Amino acid sequence: MPHNSGTEDNNLMPYFVHAIKRLHWAEKQTAMLLDKMRGEAFANSLKKAIEVHQAQTADHILRLEQVLQILGETVTERICEAMQGLVKDTSMILGDTVRKTRSRDLGIRAALMKVEHYEMATYVILVQLAQAMGLPDAEQLLQQTLIEEKEMEEKLQQPPA
Ligand SMILES: [Fe+2]
Repeated sequence: MPHNSGTEDNNLMPYFVHAIKRLHWAEKQTAMLLDKMRGEAFANSLKKAIEVHQAQTADHILRLEQVLQILGETVTERICEAMQGLVKDTSMILGDTVRKTRSRDLGIRAALMKVEHYEMATYVILVQLAQAMGLPDAEQLLQQTLIEEKEMEEKLQQPPA
């Protein structure tokens, strides 16, 4: 990928590997968060969206493990502080709302959309890094997840039926 400004950096790998590991940790946190949210959601359509999200998140975790495998890296844990903040934010939303209310469902959607936005921003850059490093298999795996994250975010924007 041509880049017109700045010094050409020829070693994108450390950032790429660390970002993948942090995202892997974050996706696992997302899986736990979704498990909790499914029990908190009131509208059936929201519960269903969360179930789809859970299945997709399991795939996202596996794809990141595949990317690490392509790189010859082990799945070592790296804490993602952005995700830690989002988990705390979710707890605060649950504290501010009451079960079986519209505000609880709105809060859950807000919490999950924030997670999606964080994940989408991360995947966008990881796809570009994979492309820049000439790793088409990794790029394809990351791109596939990015598409699903975008679709889920759009679904969460719609008020539950
Ligand atoms: Fe995800």
